[in-house]
Amino acid sequence: MLLNILEFPDPRLRKVATPVAAVTPEIVKLIRDMAETMYAAPGIGLAATQVDVHKRIVVMDLSETKDELRVFINPELLAVEGRIETEEGCLSVPGYYDEVTRGERVRVRAQDERGEPFELEAEGLLAVCIQHELDHLMGKVFVDHLSPLKRARLAAKARKKQRLAG
Ligand code: NI
Repeated sequence: MLLNILEFPDPRLRKVATPVAAVTPEIVKLIRDMAETMYAAPGIGLAATQVDVHKRIVVMDLSETKDELRVFINPELLAVEGRIETEEGCLSVPGYYDEVTRGERVRVRAQDERGEPFELEAEGLLAVCIQHELDHLMGKVFVDHLSPLKRARLAAKARKKQRLAG
């Protein structure tokens, strides 16, 4: 089932997600729907926050063949090293891309879709994507890393678009 993706500056994108206590059938269904929504968009990552479910769940697929789904339940960053500047975009900020500086390498601990804990070392785009999605779970959007002026302009533009649409 396709889920509705919230768009900046929707205040629900500011909610902080809570941990998943157990991987119930309901959580499994949510993960399936999140993956379907991400692939359909199309996007390379989606946090539950973006579909207005405020639980610590992220799905991601950076492969060109779109058959390497990664699921992170209750992800925690254990280490962040280096700095890398990448042009980022977000399904919640459609049509807008800008440079953001983040850690170049990360170590993350999470549970997979079966609830099994794992640790992952990532660098480059995967590391950037992990940090971007974990930001969502904390109620942050990538444009928060831009200047207040840029962000205000973007919010004004998005509000205008929403008014015209609805
Ligand atoms: Ni995003």
